[in-house]
Amino acid sequence: MKAIVQDRYGPPEDVLRLREVDAPVIGDDEVLVRVRATSVHPDVWHAVTGRPYILRLMGAGVSRPKDPVPGMDVAGLVTAVGKDVTRFGPGGEVFGGTYTELQWRNGGAFAEYASVPEDALALKPDGVTFEEAAAVPTSGYIALLNLRCGEFIQPGQSVLVNGAGGGVGSIAVQLAKARGARVTGVDGTAKMEMIRRLGADHVIDYTREDFTRQAERYDLVFDVASNLSLMACRRVLKPGGTHVLIGHDHFGAAAGRVLGSVPRVLMYFALSPFVSQLKNPNPDASIPSVRDAMVVLEELFQAGKLTPVIDRTYPLEDVCEAMRYLQEERACGRIIITP
Ligand SMILES: NC(=O)c1ccc[n+]([C@@H]2O[C@H](COP(=O)([O-])OP(=O)(O)OC[C@H]3O[C@@H](n4cnc5c(N)ncnc54)[C@H](OP(=O)(O)O)[C@@H]3O)[C@@H](O)[C@H]2O)c1
Repeated sequence: MKAIVQDRYGPPEDVLRLREVDAPVIGDDEVLVRVRATSVHPDVWHAVTGRPYILRLMGAGVSRPKDPVPGMDVAGLVTAVGKDVTRFGPGGEVFGGTYTELQWRNGGAFAEYASVPEDALALKPDGVTFEEAAAVPTSGYIALLNLRCGEFIQPGQSVLVNGAGGGVGSIAVQLAKARGARVTGVDGTAKMEMIRRLGADHVIDYTREDFTRQAERYDLVFDVASNLSLMACRRVLKPGGTHVLIGHDHFGAAAGRVLGSVPRVLMYFALSPFVSQLKNPNPDASIPSVRDAMVVLEELFQAGKLTPVIDRTYPLEDVCEAMRYLQEERACGRIIITP
Protein backbone atom coordinates (compact mmCIF):
# COMPACT_ATOMS: atom_id res chain seq x y z
CA MET A 1 0.00 0.00 0.00
CA LYS A 2 1.00 3.65 -0.29
CA ALA A 3 1.87 5.34 2.99
CA ILE A 4 3.67 8.38 4.31
CA VAL A 5 6.69 7.15 6.26
CA GLN A 6 9.28 8.80 8.51
CA ASP A 7 12.53 7.26 9.80
CA ARG A 8 13.51 10.18 12.03
CA TYR A 9 12.03 13.22 13.76
CA GLY A 10 12.27 16.62 12.12
CA PRO A 11 10.48 19.23 10.01
CA PRO A 12 7.77 17.48 7.92
CA GLU A 13 9.34 18.44 4.57
CA ASP A 14 12.68 16.89 5.64
CA VAL A 15 11.41 13.62 7.10
CA LEU A 16 8.12 12.60 5.46
CA ARG A 17 8.27 10.42 2.32
CA LEU A 18 5.61 8.65 0.25
CA ARG A 19 6.53 4.93 0.00
CA GLU A 20 5.15 1.49 -0.83
CA VAL A 21 4.97 -0.55 2.39
CA ASP A 22 3.21 -3.69 3.61
CA ALA A 23 -0.38 -3.20 4.75
CA PRO A 24 -0.76 -3.48 8.55
CA VAL A 25 -1.60 -6.82 10.16
CA ILE A 26 -4.61 -6.58 12.47
CA GLY A 27 -4.81 -7.98 15.99
CA ASP A 28 -7.80 -9.91 17.37
CA ASP A 29 -9.54 -6.73 18.59
CA GLU A 30 -8.65 -4.59 15.59
CA VAL A 31 -10.31 -3.52 12.37
CA LEU A 32 -8.54 -3.03 9.03
CA VAL A 33 -9.82 0.20 7.50
CA ARG A 34 -9.35 1.34 3.90
CA VAL A 35 -8.68 4.97 4.78
CA ARG A 36 -10.74 7.37 2.68
CA ALA A 37 -9.91 10.46 4.74
CA THR A 38 -7.61 11.47 7.60
CA SER A 39 -6.73 14.83 9.12
CA VAL A 40 -3.77 17.06 9.87
CA HIS A 41 -3.78 18.80 13.26
CA PRO A 42 -1.36 20.10 15.91
CA ASP A 43 -0.82 16.68 17.53
CA VAL A 44 0.29 15.24 14.18
CA TRP A 45 2.88 18.04 14.04
CA HIS A 46 4.09 17.14 17.57
CA ALA A 47 4.44 13.43 16.72
CA VAL A 48 6.23 14.07 13.39
CA THR A 49 8.70 16.67 14.70
CA GLY A 50 9.28 14.91 18.03
CA ARG A 51 8.66 18.18 19.86
CA PRO A 52 8.44 18.81 22.72
CA TYR A 53 11.23 16.29 23.32
CA ILE A 54 9.48 14.81 26.34
CA LEU A 55 6.96 13.13 24.04
CA ARG A 56 9.78 10.84 22.86
CA LEU A 57 9.97 9.44 26.41
CA MET A 58 6.19 9.13 26.57
CA GLY A 59 5.98 6.23 24.10
CA ALA A 60 6.64 7.88 20.72
CA GLY A 61 10.20 6.49 20.46
CA VAL A 62 13.41 7.93 21.94
CA SER A 63 15.79 8.31 18.99
CA ARG A 64 13.31 7.76 16.14
CA PRO A 65 9.54 7.31 15.83
CA LYS A 66 8.56 3.80 16.96
CA ASP A 67 5.66 3.85 14.51
CA PRO A 68 6.85 5.15 11.12
CA VAL A 69 3.46 6.15 9.66
CA PRO A 70 1.96 9.40 11.06
CA GLY A 71 -1.72 10.35 11.39
CA MET A 72 -4.34 9.61 14.03
CA ASP A 73 -7.81 10.18 12.57
CA VAL A 74 -9.48 7.83 10.10
CA ALA A 75 -12.72 7.58 8.20
CA GLY A 76 -13.16 4.77 5.72
CA LEU A 77 -14.39 1.31 4.85
CA VAL A 78 -13.91 -1.82 6.95
CA THR A 79 -12.09 -4.45 4.89
CA ALA A 80 -11.34 -7.07 7.57
CA VAL A 81 -11.89 -7.60 11.30
CA GLY A 82 -10.04 -9.50 14.04
CA LYS A 83 -11.69 -12.54 15.62
CA ASP A 84 -12.83 -10.68 18.76
CA VAL A 85 -14.46 -7.75 16.90
CA THR A 86 -18.25 -7.77 17.29
CA ARG A 87 -19.51 -4.31 16.28
CA PHE A 88 -18.19 -4.00 12.73
CA GLY A 89 -17.94 -6.12 9.61
CA PRO A 90 -16.45 -5.81 6.10
CA GLY A 91 -18.11 -3.06 4.06
CA GLY A 92 -19.09 -0.94 7.10
CA GLU A 93 -18.35 2.78 6.95
CA VAL A 94 -16.56 3.89 10.12
CA PHE A 95 -14.67 6.79 11.67
CA GLY A 96 -12.43 7.14 14.71
CA GLY A 97 -8.88 7.50 16.02
CA THR A 98 -6.14 4.89 15.73
CA TYR A 99 -5.60 4.81 19.52
CA THR A 100 -7.60 4.06 22.65
CA GLU A 101 -6.04 6.84 24.72
CA LEU A 102 -4.58 10.24 23.86
CA GLN A 103 -0.92 9.97 23.06
CA TRP A 104 1.65 12.00 21.20
CA ARG A 105 2.76 9.36 18.70
CA ASN A 106 2.25 8.31 15.12
CA GLY A 107 -0.96 6.37 14.61
CA GLY A 108 -0.60 4.94 11.09
CA ALA A 109 -3.45 6.87 9.45
CA PHE A 110 -1.50 8.53 6.60
CA ALA A 111 -1.81 5.39 4.50
CA GLU A 112 -4.22 3.51 2.27
CA TYR A 113 -4.93 1.03 5.09
CA ALA A 114 -4.80 1.42 8.88
CA SER A 115 -5.36 -1.02 11.72
CA VAL A 116 -7.66 0.51 14.31
CA PRO A 117 -8.81 -0.82 17.71
CA GLU A 118 -12.53 -1.64 17.65
CA ASP A 119 -13.08 0.56 20.73
CA ALA A 120 -11.78 3.62 18.89
CA LEU A 121 -14.34 3.38 16.08
CA ALA A 122 -17.98 4.28 15.51
CA LEU A 123 -20.25 3.87 12.50
CA LYS A 124 -20.14 6.85 10.17
CA PRO A 125 -23.68 8.21 9.95
CA ASP A 126 -25.24 8.46 6.48
CA GLY A 127 -25.15 12.02 5.25
CA VAL A 128 -21.74 12.67 6.85
CA THR A 129 -18.90 12.52 4.32
CA PHE A 130 -15.64 10.65 5.01
CA GLU A 131 -13.86 14.02 5.02
CA GLU A 132 -16.25 15.44 7.63
CA ALA A 133 -16.01 12.31 9.76
CA ALA A 134 -12.18 12.37 9.67
CA ALA A 135 -12.17 15.96 10.94
CA VAL A 136 -13.46 15.16 14.42
CA PRO A 137 -12.06 12.08 16.25
CA THR A 138 -8.93 13.52 17.94
CA SER A 139 -10.29 17.06 18.36
CA GLY A 140 -13.58 15.63 19.56
CA TYR A 141 -11.89 13.41 22.11
CA ILE A 142 -9.81 16.31 23.48
CA ALA A 143 -12.98 18.44 23.80
CA LEU A 144 -15.10 15.68 25.32
CA LEU A 145 -12.36 14.46 27.67
CA ASN A 146 -11.80 17.94 29.08
CA LEU A 147 -15.52 18.73 29.29
CA ARG A 148 -16.34 15.26 30.64
CA CYS A 149 -18.58 14.60 27.62
CA GLY A 150 -20.49 17.81 28.40
CA GLU A 151 -21.01 17.14 32.13
CA PHE A 152 -19.20 20.42 32.92
CA ILE A 153 -21.87 22.40 31.01
CA GLN A 154 -25.40 22.97 32.33
CA PRO A 155 -28.34 24.41 30.35
CA GLY A 156 -28.52 28.20 30.56
CA GLN A 157 -24.89 28.58 31.60
CA SER A 158 -22.60 31.09 30.00
CA VAL A 159 -19.61 29.43 28.29
CA LEU A 160 -16.62 31.12 26.67
CA VAL A 161 -14.45 29.13 24.25
CA ASN A 162 -11.04 30.73 23.64
CA GLY A 163 -9.78 29.47 20.25
CA ALA A 164 -13.34 28.65 19.17
CA GLY A 165 -12.46 28.48 15.47
CA GLY A 166 -9.92 25.66 15.78
CA GLY A 167 -10.42 21.90 15.75
CA VAL A 168 -11.14 21.45 19.47
CA GLY A 169 -12.83 24.83 19.96
CA SER A 170 -15.33 24.37 17.11
CA ILE A 171 -16.49 21.08 18.64
CA ALA A 172 -16.64 22.63 22.14
CA VAL A 173 -18.86 25.44 20.78
CA GLN A 174 -21.27 22.93 19.25
CA LEU A 175 -21.26 20.67 22.33
CA ALA A 176 -22.01 23.65 24.59
CA LYS A 177 -24.88 24.72 22.32
CA ALA A 178 -26.21 21.14 22.29
CA ARG A 179 -26.14 21.26 26.13
CA GLY A 180 -28.24 24.46 26.10
CA ALA A 181 -25.53 26.94 27.07
CA ARG A 182 -25.08 30.53 25.87
CA VAL A 183 -21.78 30.49 24.01
CA THR A 184 -19.19 33.17 23.35
CA GLY A 185 -16.49 32.23 20.84
CA VAL A 186 -13.13 34.02 20.81
CA ASP A 187 -10.77 33.77 17.83
CA GLY A 188 -9.15 35.79 15.03
CA THR A 189 -10.95 38.05 12.52
CA ALA A 190 -11.14 35.47 9.72
CA LYS A 191 -13.02 32.99 11.91
CA MET A 192 -15.80 35.22 13.30
CA GLU A 193 -18.38 34.30 10.64
CA MET A 194 -17.60 30.58 10.86
CA ILE A 195 -17.99 30.56 14.66
CA ARG A 196 -21.36 32.33 14.35
CA ARG A 197 -22.45 29.69 11.84
CA LEU A 198 -21.52 26.97 14.34
CA GLY A 199 -24.10 28.48 16.68
CA ALA A 200 -22.15 30.81 18.97
CA ASP A 201 -24.43 33.51 20.43
CA HIS A 202 -21.63 36.04 20.61
CA VAL A 203 -18.17 36.30 19.04
CA ILE A 204 -15.09 38.23 20.11
CA ASP A 205 -12.15 38.99 17.82
CA TYR A 206 -9.05 38.67 19.99
CA THR A 207 -7.10 40.97 17.69
CA ARG A 208 -9.48 43.83 18.57
CA GLU A 209 -10.86 43.14 22.05
CA ASP A 210 -9.52 41.66 25.27
CA PHE A 211 -12.44 39.81 26.85
CA THR A 212 -10.54 39.42 30.13
CA ARG A 213 -10.91 43.23 30.58
CA GLN A 214 -14.66 43.27 29.87
CA ALA A 215 -17.54 43.18 32.36
CA GLU A 216 -19.11 39.87 31.23
CA ARG A 217 -18.69 36.90 33.62
CA TYR A 218 -18.80 33.23 32.58
CA ASP A 219 -19.63 29.90 34.18
CA LEU A 220 -16.98 28.17 32.10
CA VAL A 221 -13.89 29.39 30.27
CA PHE A 222 -12.60 26.65 27.96
CA ASP A 223 -9.14 27.82 26.95
CA VAL A 224 -7.90 26.00 23.85
CA ALA A 225 -5.61 28.80 22.65
CA SER A 226 -3.96 28.61 26.11
CA ASN A 227 -2.57 32.14 25.93
CA LEU A 228 -4.35 33.38 29.07
CA SER A 229 -2.98 33.54 32.57
CA LEU A 230 -4.87 31.90 35.41
CA MET A 231 -5.37 35.37 36.96
CA ALA A 232 -6.93 36.77 33.77
CA CYS A 233 -9.30 33.81 33.48
CA ARG A 234 -10.36 34.01 37.12
CA ARG A 235 -11.21 37.69 36.61
CA VAL A 236 -13.95 36.78 34.10
CA LEU A 237 -15.29 33.70 35.90
CA LYS A 238 -18.41 33.82 38.03
CA PRO A 239 -17.93 32.63 41.62
CA GLY A 240 -18.13 28.85 41.31
CA GLY A 241 -17.19 29.05 37.61
CA THR A 242 -14.73 26.68 35.96
CA HIS A 243 -11.55 27.22 33.99
CA VAL A 244 -10.34 24.39 31.73
CA LEU A 245 -6.89 24.73 30.17
CA ILE A 246 -6.12 22.65 27.07
CA GLY A 247 -2.43 23.52 26.54
CA HIS A 248 -1.58 24.63 22.98
CA ASP A 249 2.11 24.99 22.06
CA HIS A 250 1.40 26.86 18.77
CA PHE A 251 3.99 24.75 16.98
CA GLY A 252 6.73 25.44 19.46
CA ALA A 253 6.17 29.22 19.53
CA ALA A 254 4.36 29.27 22.89
CA ALA A 255 6.19 26.63 24.90
CA GLY A 256 9.70 25.21 25.37
CA ARG A 257 11.32 22.62 23.11
CA VAL A 258 11.93 20.15 25.92
CA LEU A 259 8.75 20.07 27.97
CA GLY A 260 6.23 22.08 25.91
CA SER A 261 2.98 22.81 27.77
CA VAL A 262 3.49 19.90 30.16
CA PRO A 263 4.77 21.98 33.14
CA ARG A 264 1.83 24.39 32.87
CA VAL A 265 -0.73 21.59 32.70
CA LEU A 266 0.97 19.89 35.68
CA MET A 267 0.93 23.17 37.62
CA TYR A 268 -2.84 23.43 37.06
CA PHE A 269 -3.17 19.84 38.22
CA ALA A 270 -1.18 20.62 41.39
CA LEU A 271 -3.24 23.77 42.07
CA SER A 272 -6.63 22.18 41.38
CA PRO A 273 -7.24 20.94 44.97
CA PHE A 274 -6.73 24.54 46.22
CA VAL A 275 -8.34 26.65 43.46
CA SER A 276 -12.03 25.78 43.18
CA GLN A 277 -12.26 27.10 39.60
CA LEU A 278 -9.77 24.57 38.29
CA LYS A 279 -11.13 21.20 37.37
CA ASN A 280 -8.50 18.55 37.60
CA PRO A 281 -7.19 18.36 34.03
CA ASN A 282 -5.61 14.95 34.49
CA PRO A 283 -7.18 11.53 34.47
CA ASP A 284 -9.44 10.57 37.34
CA ALA A 285 -12.03 7.86 37.74
CA SER A 286 -14.72 9.73 35.82
CA ILE A 287 -12.88 10.53 32.61
CA PRO A 288 -14.57 9.35 29.43
CA SER A 289 -12.83 6.71 27.32
CA VAL A 290 -12.27 7.08 23.58
CA ARG A 291 -15.18 4.68 23.10
CA ASP A 292 -17.48 6.91 25.26
CA ALA A 293 -16.43 9.95 23.24
CA MET A 294 -17.02 8.21 19.90
CA VAL A 295 -20.58 7.37 21.05
CA VAL A 296 -21.21 11.05 21.87
CA LEU A 297 -19.73 12.22 18.55
CA GLU A 298 -21.86 9.71 16.63
CA GLU A 299 -24.97 10.91 18.55
CA LEU A 300 -24.19 14.57 17.85
CA PHE A 301 -23.77 13.75 14.16
CA GLN A 302 -27.05 11.78 14.12
CA ALA A 303 -28.88 14.66 15.82
CA GLY A 304 -27.51 17.16 13.28
CA LYS A 305 -25.75 19.03 16.11
CA LEU A 306 -22.19 18.56 14.87
CA THR A 307 -20.99 20.18 11.66
CA PRO A 308 -17.28 19.79 10.98
CA VAL A 309 -15.66 22.66 9.17
CA ILE A 310 -13.18 21.70 6.46
CA ASP A 311 -10.76 24.22 5.06
CA ARG A 312 -8.84 22.22 2.43
CA THR A 313 -8.35 18.67 1.21
CA TYR A 314 -5.00 17.34 -0.06
CA PRO A 315 -4.03 14.00 -1.66
CA LEU A 316 -1.69 11.74 0.33
CA GLU A 317 1.40 12.77 -1.65
CA ASP A 318 0.87 16.41 -0.62
CA VAL A 319 1.04 15.81 3.15
CA CYS A 320 4.08 18.10 3.50
CA GLU A 321 2.17 20.92 1.83
CA ALA A 322 -0.76 20.28 4.19
CA MET A 323 1.57 20.36 7.21
CA ARG A 324 3.10 23.63 6.00
CA TYR A 325 -0.38 25.16 5.71
CA LEU A 326 -1.24 23.91 9.21
CA GLN A 327 1.84 25.61 10.69
CA GLU A 328 0.95 28.91 9.08
CA GLU A 329 -2.12 28.91 11.40
CA ARG A 330 -4.29 30.33 8.62
CA ALA A 331 -6.64 27.37 8.15
CA CYS A 332 -10.28 28.10 8.82
CA GLY A 333 -11.41 24.58 9.69
CA ARG A 334 -9.70 21.19 9.51
CA ILE A 335 -7.15 20.17 6.87
CA ILE A 336 -8.01 16.79 5.37
CA ILE A 337 -5.88 14.19 3.55
CA THR A 338 -7.50 11.69 1.19
CA PRO A 339 -5.23 8.62 0.69
N1 LIG B 1 -5.50 18.94 27.20
C1 LIG B 1 -5.56 17.82 26.52
O1 LIG B 1 -6.22 16.83 26.92
C2 LIG B 1 -4.85 17.71 25.22
C3 LIG B 1 -4.58 16.46 24.70
C4 LIG B 1 -3.97 16.37 23.48
C5 LIG B 1 -3.62 17.50 22.79
N2 LIG B 1 -3.87 18.72 23.32
C6 LIG B 1 -3.53 19.96 22.61
O2 LIG B 1 -4.75 20.60 22.28
C7 LIG B 1 -4.50 21.50 21.22
C8 LIG B 1 -5.66 21.36 20.25
O3 LIG B 1 -5.81 22.44 19.50
P1 LIG B 1 -6.69 22.55 18.18
O4 LIG B 1 -6.56 21.30 17.39
O5 LIG B 1 -8.01 23.06 18.50
O6 LIG B 1 -5.80 23.69 17.53
P2 LIG B 1 -6.13 24.71 16.40
O7 LIG B 1 -7.02 24.05 15.39
O8 LIG B 1 -4.82 25.27 16.03
O9 LIG B 1 -7.00 25.83 17.14
C9 LIG B 1 -6.51 26.84 17.95
C10 LIG B 1 -7.32 28.09 17.67
O10 LIG B 1 -6.91 29.13 18.57
C11 LIG B 1 -6.85 30.35 17.82
N3 LIG B 1 -6.00 31.30 18.49
C12 LIG B 1 -4.67 31.55 18.31
N4 LIG B 1 -4.26 32.52 19.14
C13 LIG B 1 -5.35 32.92 19.84
C14 LIG B 1 -5.58 33.90 20.84
N5 LIG B 1 -4.59 34.67 21.30
N6 LIG B 1 -6.82 34.04 21.33
C15 LIG B 1 -7.83 33.25 20.90
N7 LIG B 1 -7.69 32.32 19.94
C16 LIG B 1 -6.46 32.15 19.42
C17 LIG B 1 -6.34 29.91 16.46
O11 LIG B 1 -6.66 30.87 15.47
P3 LIG B 1 -5.61 31.75 14.67
O12 LIG B 1 -4.29 31.06 14.75
O13 LIG B 1 -6.17 31.84 13.30
O14 LIG B 1 -5.59 33.07 15.36
C18 LIG B 1 -7.12 28.62 16.26
O15 LIG B 1 -8.37 28.87 15.66
C19 LIG B 1 -3.17 21.10 20.60
O16 LIG B 1 -2.17 22.02 20.92
C20 LIG B 1 -2.87 19.79 21.28
O17 LIG B 1 -1.49 19.51 21.40
C21 LIG B 1 -4.48 18.85 24.52
